[in-house]
Amino acid sequence: MKELRHLINITDLSIEEISHLVEIAEDIIDNPENYQEACAHKKLATLFFEPSTRTRLSFTAAMMELGGNVLGFDQAASSSTAKGESVSDTIVMASCYADIIAMRHPKEGAPFVGAKAATVPIINAGDGGHFHPTQTLTDILTIHKKFGRMENLTIGLCGDLKFGRTVHSLIEAMLRYEGVKFVMISPEELDLPGYIKESMDEAGIEWKEVRSLEEAIPELDVLYMTRVQKERFFNEEDYIRLKDSFILKRNMLRPAKEDMIVMHPLPRVNEISVDVDDDPRAAYFFQALMGKYIRMALILFMLGMK
Ligand code: NCD
Repeated sequence: MKELRHLINITDLSIEEISHLVEIAEDIIDNPENYQEACAHKKLATLFFEPSTRTRLSFTAAMMELGGNVLGFDQAASSSTAKGESVSDTIVMASCYADIIAMRHPKEGAPFVGAKAATVPIINAGDGGHFHPTQTLTDILTIHKKFGRMENLTIGLCGDLKFGRTVHSLIEAMLRYEGVKFVMISPEELDLPGYIKESMDEAGIEWKEVRSLEEAIPELDVLYMTRVQKERFFNEEDYIRLKDSFILKRNMLRPAKEDMIVMHPLPRVNEISVDVDDDPRAAYFFQALMGKYIRMALILFMLGMK
């Protein structure tokens, strides 16, 4: 029997496997008709204990476009969690009803606990302020489509680097590519967690912290904006003080490279002004679309079909 694979952290995939997923996704984009029945009679369970728009909808759309079915819930209150059921028990149940599970949970490590109980592949669709590997795959496909490579890029990460799980997973993935440099742009209080800094130092990559977005922009190939993660703050005062620390406005893109791209996992609150949307460098809606294709590739891969 084939070994049961889960995707909890982006480092569960080698960079060769990530390239393989990008290739499948690009083939799906070019030849969608070849995949329409690929997952016929297969079921994906989306277990979302925390709010989501893009991640859950793109997983759902991905499975539908593969000809499969989707079941699940979109809030803990509408599942037996509200009655006190444990994550493990919920996962054992879902394993009885589905061939693959995507789960999002507010507690760091919950998908890891779920994976221990699962008899089908578990995909972490975001765990607290920890990791979000499928957003990273989305980001990687976006970067690959825009630049045709992953190497030798200078990536600016701006906003809530402390609680922003998309940033943590993206760093863990990108530090494995040759010549990647990071510029961290955040208020001091929303600085990266120590364990991510250690990963970068162990990998021996170049990175720095700055406090001004304007200063950082000219050297960047990718500017990755993030939302200040309101739901992870312990008090509202701190959130209100920090929420508008960095706002990207169209005129700030004037000194940027012509082929720089602006990314954002979305949802945005205030951090990218809407006048940036029609600048050719704005890539965040394209990025959301890429999320569907890479999740199609991932489902096929995790089911052992590709
Ligand atoms: C992100 C998340 O849930 O971490 N959203 C997403 O999945 N596209 C980012 C965020 O909520 O700020």
